Amino acid sequence: MNVADSERVSSALEHLGYAFSPVIEEADVIVLNTCVIRQSAEEKAYGRLTSLWPVKRDRPEVVINLMGCLVGIKDNQPLRKRFPYVDVFSAPSDPSPLVEFLIQRHAHETEKAETARRYAVMDGDLLLPHPNIGQQVIGWIPVVYGCSHACTYCIIPYQRGIERSRPAEEILKEAHSLAAQGVKEITLLGQIVDRYGLDQPGYPSLADLLKQLSEIEGIERLRFLTSHPNWMNDELLNCVAELPKVMPHIEIPNQSGDDQVLEAMKRGYTTEQYRELVQRIRARIPGVSIASDIIVGFPGETETQFQNTYNLLEELKLDIVHLARYSSRTGTVSERLLVDDVSDDEKWVRFRALEKLQEKIIREIHATYLNTTVLILFEEKVKNRWKGRTPTNKLVFVESEENLIGQIRPVRIRWTGPWSMLGNLE
Ligand code: 5AD
Repeated sequence: MNVADSERVSSALEHLGYAFSPVIEEADVIVLNTCVIRQSAEEKAYGRLTSLWPVKRDRPEVVINLMGCLVGIKDNQPLRKRFPYVDVFSAPSDPSPLVEFLIQRHAHETEKAETARRYAVMDGDLLLPHPNIGQQVIGWIPVVYGCSHACTYCIIPYQRGIERSRPAEEILKEAHSLAAQGVKEITLLGQIVDRYGLDQPGYPSLADLLKQLSEIEGIERLRFLTSHPNWMNDELLNCVAELPKVMPHIEIPNQSGDDQVLEAMKRGYTTEQYRELVQRIRARIPGVSIASDIIVGFPGETETQFQNTYNLLEELKLDIVHLARYSSRTGTVSERLLVDDVSDDEKWVRFRALEKLQEKIIREIHATYLNTTVLILFEEKVKNRWKGRTPTNKLVFVESEENLIGQIRPVRIRWTGPWSMLGNLE
């Protein structure tokens, strides 16, 4: 989501005449886009912000924009006081304050200013950073902003605001513009992406959107994330099963494998319901890969409750599990009402146990790809190899003299490990 938000800032700035600079010391404008999902992310954001102070001291004309969840959507006076060298504060997904600031400061020509304003409001016009045009294979389109679900541990609804879907025309327009700039794969984004359209006239669904996007020439692959077990429905599963461009990969976090913990998290489903859902997804979409998120050490999580999560993951054998240690976030229900009583050491023990289990599972799953031929979409060159992905979103590296960027090619898999695979072009 933050990558998508940053691309939109860059799109608006390109229209004011700015170009991307890889070197902070040479930049006239520095945008720090931030995440606060866990304490570690927040600390990193503060660390980067502090490191910008000498840059501003040495070159006071530099414009510093602090953006994203550290700023949030509410009053940010305390941040303004604490970081007076920041010129512009902006909420997640909102390039407008920066664009306005630059227009005022530099009195840009009216025409340029108007175009930049249009791009900043994210109404579907999107220009990739210049060097990326024709090079960027993967594009991201936010389709639902914010979240109204309020899982007890989660800060997102407070920082990103209530759930808002974007109008379908806007999304289609954006997808067309990405296709015209060489993008081959689009991932639709939302905190609960399957809830797309519930606040739009006529209730367009995510499946409707995927059908329409499938028609766009040049777009070869479509993905979406993140799903919520209560909102994943058969219409969507049918769509993944039937539309050739929609890739067989589902990101559907369960967060815990224990019913009491799930209840305390206010996730709204039981372990049994999650298990049935995984079975339903697998039955409907053969060869599908499934990813999940798990939080270990939620307040009050006992050894037995953790073991239930372990056992569930051992049974389900998911393709990816993003692991997190519970981190108390100011203002959330769990921070206000529960005690963060699982020690840091214990959280690490549980984290490592799941990490080890998952590594074993994923090794086994990947080994089934050995000596098979898979269609890989290539994204970029990393060192001397071309990096691409399978339809199931697994990383594959290939050596070739040819420039493979943007191509979909059959690849014979000849080595597999837990994090990636190696193959040869067929
Ligand atoms: N502590 C730890 N992990 C969290 N996540 C969300 N909030 C917290 C928190 N307070 C994790 C969830 C979510 C992912 C994006 O981050 O697993 O799915």
